[in-house]
Amino acid sequence: MSDGFVIKTDIDGFDFREVTDLLNGFGLSDLDNDKQRLVFERSYAKVFILKDGHVAAVGRALSDGIAQASIYNIAVREDLWGKGLGRTVINELLRQVEGCNVVLYTHPKHIGLYEHWGFRKLKTSYAHFPNEEHFLAEGFLE
Ligand SMILES: CC(C)(COP(=O)(O)OP(=O)(O)OC[C@H]1O[C@@H](n2cnc3c(N)ncnc32)[C@H](O)[C@@H]1OP(=O)(O)O)[C@@H](O)C(=O)NCCC(=O)NCCS
Repeated sequence: MSDGFVIKTDIDGFDFREVTDLLNGFGLSDLDNDKQRLVFERSYAKVFILKDGHVAAVGRALSDGIAQASIYNIAVREDLWGKGLGRTVINELLRQVEGCNVVLYTHPKHIGLYEHWGFRKLKTSYAHFPNEEHFLAEGFLE
């Protein structure tokens, strides 16, 4: 990438708090910094795009690295939307879990986005959420 962008796949060398602030700022998470760091450390695949040393975009995937993977926490800093960073994060995650079946669920307002990025809608997926009311209220659940 150009324009001062650097893609990282490890968690060191930048202020991780910027990841926590980015995700919490969009309501994608409410974890504190230590827990969020652990979440990324435990994830099989992770991507951080830095611009001038600061976090510009993030994403992660849980996976066995062989057969199955699921993507979470895709976010791009708002002043950098529309420049292809989101697609770059997705492509880098797909590269790290190449060969796997990859699933994700998204907020209802982003369904078209993932179809734009080459994902197909599942007909048979189910979820079990501890805080079901939130997901019902936000329109995730039938
Ligand atoms: C969603 C998000 C990650 C997109 O990041 P981005 O860097 O702006 O995305 P990109 O520039 O790579 O791609 C945007 C493309 O998707 C298209 N797009 C955007 N929203 C869309 C939608 N709802 N339906 C169809 N296409 C859509 C754009 O037109 C653009 O198309 P192009 O690449 O052909 O020009 C970013 O807006 C974000 O961080 N939002 C807040 C956090 C969030 O909601 N994350 C998703 C959680 S599942």
